[in-house]
Amino acid sequence: MKNKIKQIAQLVYKSKYAVVMTGAGMSVESGIPPFRGTTGIWTKYGKPKLDSFSDFKKNPTKWWDDRRNLTIDKHIIELRESLTKAKPHDGHYSLARIEKARYIKSIITQNIDGLDLVAGSKNVIEIHGNRKRLRCLECNNRIDLEEYIPIYAPDPCEFCGGTVKFDTVLFGEPIPKDIMKSSRHEIDKSDLIIAVGTSATVRPASGLLWIAKSQGAKIIEVNIEKTKLTAISDYYIKSKAKSFFVNLEDELASNSNH
Ligand code: APR
Repeated sequence: MKNKIKQIAQLVYKSKYAVVMTGAGMSVESGIPPFRGTTGIWTKYGKPKLDSFSDFKKNPTKWWDDRRNLTIDKHIIELRESLTKAKPHDGHYSLARIEKARYIKSIITQNIDGLDLVAGSKNVIEIHGNRKRLRCLECNNRIDLEEYIPIYAPDPCEFCGGTVKFDTVLFGEPIPKDIMKSSRHEIDKSDLIIAVGTSATVRPASGLLWIAKSQGAKIIEVNIEKTKLTAISDYYIKSKAKSFFVNLEDELASNSNH
């Protein structure tokens, strides 16, 4: 492992624009279960119907009532409980310092837990939104929440009267155009992608990894098990997210003293 970290640190050093993409595996060591894979919450409860956005649009008031009355899928309740308790782990803090030192230029996260921002990372694109935020479906106006669950359906947007929902991108919901544009912009600038803790199964987010590869970027995969991304990765590191970033920070710091 030490050798592999050394090699990765060299690649980061030599890169012009390194980008990190994280998935649910990045927050497992903060107590938030992943969706898929051996420890996945869907593996435990079964894969849900992936039509939550059409459910929402059909009847937003019922959608919110279900969340207030907990008449929702068990996995959503378990995810919500873990989200409210989650704190960044050492790997989130190491990543924030690696970004501050400019080795990594940006982080595209599929996670909605906001832990990268809490840990101090700055250039973070939350491609699936942030669970502690509301967003207007029409004008994209976003409102940060003090706590996780608004008890009643929020009022229509104060700017355009549009429908307001959690910022979290639901299945079947398009990723907001501004977010998709900035994500693609990062990918187009990247010559090195470090994909950590993602099964690389959900598009369009995971598709960005294949686009990066097709545009000549090197792909490094960090995961506890191989995925469909492994086949196109230049490096695969079998590692948990926390120890990977802690070791990478140490290696980059020791190199910079040479
Ligand atoms: N460290 C690194 N990787 C881990 C760890 C860990 N401690 N624990 C689990 N993993 C890996 C699993 O092996 C799996 O490949 O993290 C990956 C998690 O995959 P998913 O649960 O599919 O999460 P993700 O890829 O982020 O899913 C994308 O799908 O459910 C939707 O919107 C949701 O953003 C999510 C999207």
